[in-house]
Amino acid sequence: AAQGGAVAPSLQAAPVSAGEAPTLTILYGSQTGNAKALAHECQAKAEGAGYNSKLVSMADYKARNLKSETHVAVFVSTHGEGDAPDDAIELHEYVASKKAPKLANTKYGVVSLGDSSYEFFCQTGKDFDERLSKLGATAVIDRLDCDVDYEAEAEAWLNRFIDSLKEDFTASAAPAVAAQTGVAVAGAPAQTYTKKAPYTASLIESQKITGRDSIKDIRHIEISLEDSGITYKPGDALGVWFKNAPSLVNDLIALLSLDENAEVVVAESAMTLKEALTSKLELTLSYPNFIKAYQAATGSESLAALMEDKAQLRTYMADRQIIDIVRDHVGSISAQQLVDALRPLTPRLYSIASSQADVEDEVHLTVAHVDYEAFGERHQGGASGYLCEYLEENGEVEVFVENNDNFRLPADPNTPVIMVGPGTGIAPFRSFMQERDVQEAEGKNWLFFGNPHFTQDFLYQVEWQGYVKEGLLDKITLAFSRDQEEKVYVQHRLLENGKEVFEWLEQGAHFYVCGDAMHMAKDVEEALIKIVQEHGGKSEAEAKSYVVELRKAKRYQKDVY
Ligand code: 2AM
Repeated sequence: AAQGGAVAPSLQAAPVSAGEAPTLTILYGSQTGNAKALAHECQAKAEGAGYNSKLVSMADYKARNLKSETHVAVFVSTHGEGDAPDDAIELHEYVASKKAPKLANTKYGVVSLGDSSYEFFCQTGKDFDERLSKLGATAVIDRLDCDVDYEAEAEAWLNRFIDSLKEDFTASAAPAVAAQTGVAVAGAPAQTYTKKAPYTASLIESQKITGRDSIKDIRHIEISLEDSGITYKPGDALGVWFKNAPSLVNDLIALLSLDENAEVVVAESAMTLKEALTSKLELTLSYPNFIKAYQAATGSESLAALMEDKAQLRTYMADRQIIDIVRDHVGSISAQQLVDALRPLTPRLYSIASSQADVEDEVHLTVAHVDYEAFGERHQGGASGYLCEYLEENGEVEVFVENNDNFRLPADPNTPVIMVGPGTGIAPFRSFMQERDVQEAEGKNWLFFGNPHFTQDFLYQVEWQGYVKEGLLDKITLAFSRDQEEKVYVQHRLLENGKEVFEWLEQGAHFYVCGDAMHMAKDVEEALIKIVQEHGGKSEAEAKSYVVELRKAKRYQKDVY
């Protein structure tokens, strides 16, 4: 149930002439549901054109069937450092392996989804494109690399893709199929509030849960969903639309000597410059397209020089927001040019920290307030600044639920779980424990948590202690990194407890990791492999495949960012 609305999973056109009619096989590898939603859209368009089609998650696709496919559409996203989504890992490896077949009779198209502020933008889709082509398959249309705002481009790509298959498929398009145009919406009714049509929720409470002397400012935020009818499950995320801080907007306008009331057009709507910069455009990141467009508009020579060295440009962009770049290269630009150079604002996703079984019409978040000094100025995160500061004044925030079926409690309440969630990675595990508490689930629960200092940063300490006391939480293992000379992290604690961790895994435990993707989640995975190797008496290769099997069985799930 991604933003595209829930579509019946197998809307297959009736086969017209048995055997002969080609089938478009639509494969998707999705982490947050966007690739899946596009795949569904592709199928709707294929059906509309009267083509036979088959929609399959890469996780459920038998790779050896690839050799008999004549037409394939691939929709796949990329995560973190160029990683494939969990569901795509196997097929992604297969197409690059020696086992991969020749595909001389296969035509294909690839749509990759990603975020261009990451170095390995759309890598997984690029890999699929390259590998399919190497195997002899023919791309009927150029690959589309989708950045965060892709809806219109993707729509156009789908139309062209479907159109380019016309000749191959017309033979099979019998009149009977033409009736199958409309997209059937089946299953659960689509959620009324979506990314495009969010719910305006009100703040109940916002409380700092790190200590006065903490180096972190982490908030527990409670939001009311009141009579919205919105439902969510443990593991889901809350999408948050935010507004840029008034001071930031004013400073940017002043730096460029623009008029805040100048009329501009954003996504075909007219509004003032101030309104556009406040609610429609991304200011608290930096991205290469801005640099290009800003340089072109201002003719800045210093920026042009910077752009010549890619590595240098990347370092420069890494710790700057839009306003820092502008401040370094103030130039003359019109209000409309500025607006056109900026990327549309997109909502941020926060792992939900509550269970509706417990909090009913509320939703709770654990938010790290990004707030620091740099280049002599205060900087705040876009969404976290809004949630932690402006929400307190305004009291309202636009939200929607983003389902995450890749991060779910075991269906069986008797199954043990191991949860690794340092820092704000703790959020979904608060939700898990609330759920299991209400369910009176019998499965064992083990939490690994880490943060800098015990006295300042033990998030939700009282709640965990309550759960330990009542027997819900069987074990809690802590890693306060800065309370001693040597850094101690969750992965060190996992290794120390390796024997028991392996025993739990052998008893069928599910293993969850939430939090930092760049370092923590990688280190935890390494620790997991070491544990299996050491305590399972396996070689490194065997331990790795044990972990891959865990992942495939959905017993090793990650929610990392
Ligand atoms: P540090 O800031 O003292 O280095 C939550 O942010 C906790 O994760 C902090 O205690 C932080 O420690 C720790 N942390 C930092 N890098 C980590 C890594 N690679 N693996 C696990 N934890 C890490």
